[in-house]
Amino acid sequence: MRKAIYPGSFDPITNGHLDIIGRAAGIFDEIIVAVLHNDDKQHLFPIGERLQILRDSLAHLPNVTLQTFNGLLVDFAVQCGTNLVIRGLRMVSDFDYEFQMTLTNRQLKSDLETVFLMTDAAYSFLSSSVVRQVAAYHGKIDHLVPPASAQALRQRFADAS
Ligand code: PNS
Repeated sequence: MRKAIYPGSFDPITNGHLDIIGRAAGIFDEIIVAVLHNDDKQHLFPIGERLQILRDSLAHLPNVTLQTFNGLLVDFAVQCGTNLVIRGLRMVSDFDYEFQMTLTNRQLKSDLETVFLMTDAAYSFLSSSVVRQVAAYHGKIDHLVPPASAQALRQRFADAS
């Protein structure tokens, strides 16, 4: 039974995240999408809303479960009983941050393995922060995010205007 964690902030989930989760779900028996629940970090959506958007967006993937975590990823991995972490790579500029994170995690827990999956080229420019910016100015976002994210973003920025 190969179980892997896909950690992130998911503020909110994009089609790029969804692409990575779908690929990972085809490779591993179980994927735990682990949402960082860190009160120090400023998020557009509170944890409850991020989880609801994720639940709606991942319902079609039976081997994907959803959990929150706080603190170190390595401790959460131990708690989950796995040493496998999935991360997506979009372009070369992701590499520095991902390399730093992977080596830090490996220093903390030597058997932690980070598996990198490349996103589809169509999503190589996409990030939650880009989507938040476009949505803030009422730009078109339906091709960038799953419907639950699009609806939540529209509501958030309609409320704000
Ligand atoms: O989607 P993100 O924001 O790029 O995800 C980053 C995340 C949540 C994977 C990363 O910040 C993380 O693992 N945070 C938990 C704290 C931790 O373990 N830090 C040590 C590794 S840098």
